[in-house]
Amino acid sequence: MRFYSFIEKNIGVMSALMIVAISFGTLVELVPMFFQPEITEPIQGLKPYSPLELEGRDVYIKEGCVGCHSQMIRPLRAEVERYGHYSVAGESVYDHPFLWGSKRTGPDLARVGNRYSDEWHRAHLMNPRDVVPQSIMPAYPHLAKNILDAKVTKDKMQALQMIGVPYSDEDIAKAEAEVKGRSELDALIIYLQSLGILLRGAQ
Ligand code: HEC
Repeated sequence: MRFYSFIEKNIGVMSALMIVAISFGTLVELVPMFFQPEITEPIQGLKPYSPLELEGRDVYIKEGCVGCHSQMIRPLRAEVERYGHYSVAGESVYDHPFLWGSKRTGPDLARVGNRYSDEWHRAHLMNPRDVVPQSIMPAYPHLAKNILDAKVTKDKMQALQMIGVPYSDEDIAKAEAEVKGRSELDALIIYLQSLGILLRGAQ
């Protein structure tokens, strides 16, 4: 009892012991996850983003699409029926940073790849109301005019390579030619069409 009352009367000692207790709890939750293959290994067939997909992803980040769209289908029946197979960790291992999001003003986009044609996306991004009359999504016509800076793509790929994304030096060498002359809109559509297609069928 003397021990307890000593701790209760000394806020410094109590704080230190609380930090130890919380850190221990956190480590017990976190550490095993680093060793679970289904969390750390890519799912079968997963490839790193192509140079244009990667640029499209950066447009998605820059334009703040993540503020209205999640990319995280939860394992709940209503979600799986609407969007397809729930998201698994192995799909996002090459995503730095991940774009799971938490706000759904618009629908989840984790499996939007191949759901619409490229022309549909082009029309929708130029002016969403042309294809979905009641849409409240902003229009992004400027993306068609912005031509990508192809010189920086290889630097982005090299940075990702350094943190473990398996790009080969050959992939990086081809990046500039693939991106050159393409608009931000082209890249964004190519990125959207790549989303979630590997697990789609297993609904
Ligand atoms: C202010 C919120 C908002 C922002 C920002 C926003 N969207 Fe949307 N988005 C919506 C809403 C609402 C819908 C549903 C109506 C529609 O289809 O237009 C939608 C629909 C979509 C769809 C169709 C999804 C489906 O399954 O039918 C795509 C693709 C999409 N948005 C992509 C984007 C991209 C890419 C960006 C960034 C460039 C973006 N959105 C930014 C609100 C937003």
